[in-house]
Amino acid sequence: GNESTVSITVVGASGDLAKRKIFPALFALYYEDCLPKHFTVYGYARSKITDAELRNMVSKTLTCRIDKRENCGKKMDQFLKRCFYHSGQYDSQQNFVDLDKKLKEHEAGRVSNRLFYLSIPPNIFIDAVRCASMSASSGNGWTRVIVEKPFGRDSESSAALTKALKQYLEEEQIFRIDHYLGKELVENLSVLRFSNLIFEPLWSRQYIRNVQLIFSEDFGTEGRGGYFDNYGIIRDIMQNHLLQILALFAMETPVSLDAEDIRNEKVKVLRSMRPLQLENVAVGQYKSHTKGGVTYPAYTDDKTVPKDSLTPTFAAAALFIDNARWDDVPFLMKAGKALHNKKAEIRVQFRHVPGNLYNRNFGIDLDRATNELVIRVQPDEAIYLKINNKVPGLGMRLGRSNLNLHYAARYSKEIPDAYERLLLDAIEGERRLFIRSDELDAAWALFTPLLKELEEKKIIPEYYPYGSRGPVGAHYLAARYNVRWGDVG
Ligand code: BG6
Repeated sequence: GNESTVSITVVGASGDLAKRKIFPALFALYYEDCLPKHFTVYGYARSKITDAELRNMVSKTLTCRIDKRENCGKKMDQFLKRCFYHSGQYDSQQNFVDLDKKLKEHEAGRVSNRLFYLSIPPNIFIDAVRCASMSASSGNGWTRVIVEKPFGRDSESSAALTKALKQYLEEEQIFRIDHYLGKELVENLSVLRFSNLIFEPLWSRQYIRNVQLIFSEDFGTEGRGGYFDNYGIIRDIMQNHLLQILALFAMETPVSLDAEDIRNEKVKVLRSMRPLQLENVAVGQYKSHTKGGVTYPAYTDDKTVPKDSLTPTFAAAALFIDNARWDDVPFLMKAGKALHNKKAEIRVQFRHVPGNLYNRNFGIDLDRATNELVIRVQPDEAIYLKINNKVPGLGMRLGRSNLNLHYAARYSKEIPDAYERLLLDAIEGERRLFIRSDELDAAWALFTPLLKELEEKKIIPEYYPYGSRGPVGAHYLAARYNVRWGDVG
């Protein structure tokens, strides 16, 4: 018949990402009836385990959505019955031929669509792409490959990776994930801006004084030091997650909501930016700290990290977009591990009201107490706007208040995980939230000279205690551009 089927192969099925994110996201999609009628999930990895063992492993990671627990157990069983395992090497053509045979059996003559999720380290990545595309791609439907970062570690290695990928795949088949683009509040950015008159006209240098993109985690790199030490926080968070948010935030209005139209605008913004220089950044690395009788390790205490590593676990940076809309507006980024909290947010600081009637006599310095729009991406999603307001009473005193859209209070449905949206989009062929190769090139062009300089000059990071607010260098950096971080008192 003409019916089609989708086979989803998770390559690297026993890895951390597969367990924590990919299988749970697939189950959530199944639970919400978002997967096609005919689908199969294959775990592919080297270890020799059985289907039953894979199902057992997967079942431990599945959770039910809080709003409808009743038939969750039943749904889980049904989902697990659609999960299978294939043991193979990542560079073995034959092992993928065997996989192909198994997939064909499930497809039972229907149109075959195949999605490969490559959740494996970069050094074996191209081999797997070659084997999957040559031996297990679809004969009569589509074949798509989701790839995870790192997409290289600088312009050159990224270009080499792109070139290697294109030997086996068309650009339309490659889905480069940046999971921050799948987060609810990041996707909402364009809605907030382009469909609200009170924001859209203000979105420029005329009214916005600076924009801040802030990422912090309250845990270190314990356990993944080996990966992290080769990349550092600038590559791990800034060059991708924060820069992607920046591009969406700052792009011109796209012609339409089509993937190519949106990505065209994102590339334009990225290409309008000045590559970073040493003077635009402050870097830090966390050191050991004892609090309440507990000693938290230094970054270099990790066995997989060299004792003399200078890799930044914290960085702050100032970026500029040289176009008519954003000329001279600092876009400040800050990202760090082992800080005092876990948070990701966007802060938009507006200019002061010219000739404001309410001057310093009313209990507030209006030059400082400017409006600020905060988009809290996580946790506890929210959008709030800081406004100046009269403190109720007979006198005339001003204070700051929040107009607050708190997601948990406003919406009863749980927010989907980023991977759910992205997997669904990949299955549906929607590329809007995936990174096109020219975007990737432009992103690397901004950071590569800086990264090289940091490494060549062996710039020593400022050490900050585990669990602290990070190095003071971040404040000096901001002050150089007349900015104060909005997330500190
Ligand atoms: C990953 C980084 O891309 O994003 C990790 O490699 C980081 O270092 C993670 O912890 C953060 O993602 P999330 O969704 O937990 O904020």
